[in-house]
Amino acid sequence: MLQYDPLSPFDEEINRRDVPALKTHPMVVGLHGENLFAAGVADMDFKAPPAVLEAMQKRLDHGVFGYEAMPAGLLRALVRWLQQQHNWEVAKDHILTSPNILTALAMAASLFTDEGDAVIVQPPVFFDFFDVLNENHREIVQNPLIFDQGLYRMDFEDLENKASRPKTKMIYLCNPHNPVGRVWGEQELRTLGDICKRHGVLVVSDEMHGDLVFSGHKYTPFASLGPKYAANCITCISPAKTFNIASCCASFTLIADEDMRKAFQVENSRLSVNKNNPFANVAMQAAYSSGAPWLEAVIAYLENNVELVRAALRNIPGVELVEPEGTYLLWINFNGLGLGLDELYTFLRKEAQWSVTRGHSFGKEGQGFARVNIACTRAKLETALGNLELAAGRLHS
Ligand SMILES: Cc1ncc(COP(=O)(O)O)c(C=O)c1O
Repeated sequence: MLQYDPLSPFDEEINRRDVPALKTHPMVVGLHGENLFAAGVADMDFKAPPAVLEAMQKRLDHGVFGYEAMPAGLLRALVRWLQQQHNWEVAKDHILTSPNILTALAMAASLFTDEGDAVIVQPPVFFDFFDVLNENHREIVQNPLIFDQGLYRMDFEDLENKASRPKTKMIYLCNPHNPVGRVWGEQELRTLGDICKRHGVLVVSDEMHGDLVFSGHKYTPFASLGPKYAANCITCISPAKTFNIASCCASFTLIADEDMRKAFQVENSRLSVNKNNPFANVAMQAAYSSGAPWLEAVIAYLENNVELVRAALRNIPGVELVEPEGTYLLWINFNGLGLGLDELYTFLRKEAQWSVTRGHSFGKEGQGFARVNIACTRAKLETALGNLELAAGRLHS
């Protein structure tokens, strides 16, 4: 077994440009963006857990990479993980695989709604929800979150209204929510679930960030609320964010309802997206079997990074952190700087040297905000925060 050093393995600076990582790629940071704080893509700068690296190395050493089945222990490890981490009992035969979460979201929309049907999203929300629905010719109905005294909550009155429209067939729930960092509470999820059930709206719950939750908060899987909620839900999870293996894993689609599950299975087969990648499978099995201590340590490191941001922003008037409950994506409100839209992102790039995700790509509610990924070394974050403080100082001088 490789040993995991609990002191500070996440302080190791690894050059993401040694591989064509998207986070630092010109496609994302633009030309001449090599010196920017690359905070615009949702992955971590940290190595995957040692157990994952070891399992992949062992599989590599085997040397033969012909067709293979899913290892017998993978789903067992996942079921155990969900039970131990989230107190969520899932039957093994309710779990299907998909190449990734977005594939599963697109398949759910194409299988269980028709062209022209409406799907609810809750902006500001992960921009790919919009792309998937547009590309599948579904109408997007927006149920914006309410931003009140620094906290986001759902607008249930508006949700009831929009869910009750005959064309509305589905909602894409983001739990925990990218980008605002809310880890939805049990009561909020129940209220949403009851509204959706009343109006025949299927809940497709993207719970990809569910393992990355900060102290004092608890991730509640929507389907764990009870059988009536599970029966009206398709849950998408994956170890991609949890263990930083987005480019070498698959995702899991959990469907309790037998008819929907069979339909999904047939579609998996029709599209031939049911193949097995041996590296993905051993990585996922190792992560779910032995990754818990690593995850605990990475969350502690991220919490410390959040604290660095909190402390720095106290010295920067006009820039406010929306307190995150989970995920490593911070939602920062720059509206107080009084800059126009283009001006703000020019300021962040040219003056502060930050490459971020622009708030309005998550919906117009995100104007003047930026999503900032803080899953990087402490040293890098400190430098970035120092640059922001200097730039903001110049702005006010
Ligand atoms: C909420 C959410 N869903 C889905 C994805 C993309 O998942 P995948 O790469 O498995 O398609 C992301 C990636 O950032 C995400 O944040």
